[in-house]
Amino acid sequence: MTRRRLGLSTRAIHGVPHPSHARSPISSPIVQSSTFINPVGSDEEVLYTRYGNNPNQVSLAGRLAALEGGEAAIALGSGMGATALALLAVLAPGDHFVSCEWIYGGTRRLFDGEFAKHGIDVSYVDPSNPRAWKARLRGTTRAIFVEAVTNPLMRVIDIEPLASLCHTEGIALIVDSTFASPINFRPLEHGADVVIHSATKYLNGHTDVIAGAVIGTEEMIEEVRRLMQVWGQALDPHAAWLVERGLKTLEVRMARHNANGLAFAEWASDFAGFARVHYPGLPGHPDHAVAARVLDGFGGMVGIEVQGGRAAAERMLRRLRVARHAPSLGGVETLVSEPRLTSHAALTAAQRAAQGIPDGFVRVSVGIEDVDDLIADFTRALRRPRRG
Ligand SMILES: Cc1ncc(COP(=O)(O)O)c(C=O)c1O
Repeated sequence: MTRRRLGLSTRAIHGVPHPSHARSPISSPIVQSSTFINPVGSDEEVLYTRYGNNPNQVSLAGRLAALEGGEAAIALGSGMGATALALLAVLAPGDHFVSCEWIYGGTRRLFDGEFAKHGIDVSYVDPSNPRAWKARLRGTTRAIFVEAVTNPLMRVIDIEPLASLCHTEGIALIVDSTFASPINFRPLEHGADVVIHSATKYLNGHTDVIAGAVIGTEEMIEEVRRLMQVWGQALDPHAAWLVERGLKTLEVRMARHNANGLAFAEWASDFAGFARVHYPGLPGHPDHAVAARVLDGFGGMVGIEVQGGRAAAERMLRRLRVARHAPSLGGVETLVSEPRLTSHAALTAAQRAAQGIPDGFVRVSVGIEDVDDLIADFTRALRRPRRG
């Protein structure tokens, strides 16, 4: 008899369920201790919070592995920490990797500015040319890196052809799945080898934590753990507890983000104040067909181009009351930000325009408020001032 697989919400709430003991707490206690009494004369694993074996870190890791369907997972001090260590776990000086060109600006700074110093070379690919991936591979290529849903144009990369290429070539496919969350997309089910999250975003969902996660094979996660211990990237136990608490509502939050995202994008695409709207759930989005096939929900991230460019966008941002002007995403509150000042600040205006991100582009992380209130907020903020 095959064992029934638990649903995503059950996995998010319980991780891998285990027998309960009388009087044990339902919510994990916060073990706010840097160190633990280790038995004298024992050569068992030494417990120390920087090593990633604090009970809160372990409990969170179990839930993350269960959610993504991976053998193992590890929680880290930030999403950037997760990206850095996941790549360093498969790359050594002299190695090369290929990255999608459409990635978070902080990740690009890490690849260009830091990895180069350690003799790790990167080539970028415009994924609208699917043949370019193979063309960029070298004898020293060890990995391909992509974001499953990209920032801020919400392009959806079909990772299955990439996974076949990686497996044929014997290299790793590493996917940052922050924008999708494991509710909307689970890269390992589509052939990826490693999944990265900025747990700061949807996984935690309450805008009160900076955290990261890597999910993959036991062997891969052991290597990330080894690096984490010496590069000092462990997640604080209280932060781990907060992410674990956030996970308990991940599935219902995502259902609401998906519904609100779609309703907001549909409204925005008919609204005269916006020149263009980028949302994979809209039939006009270039990746709508891929998104409909591979995603379980289109998500809560929407890109809007405000009619009238930068000045009009700034006027709108100043007048919003429910949506707040702040970087980050994936929380219960609606946040708006301008890629030109945040995720894509390292690019010139011309480079951004070439990527399809003109000045006046606003990224909306649609929260779980009442969507009618959000629509009213944007409508009011864009109302033209009366003359005379
Ligand atoms: C797609 C993506 N990956 C990684 C990160 C980095 O995450 P963190 O801010 O938790 O370090 C971000 C941050 O915005 C992001 O958007």
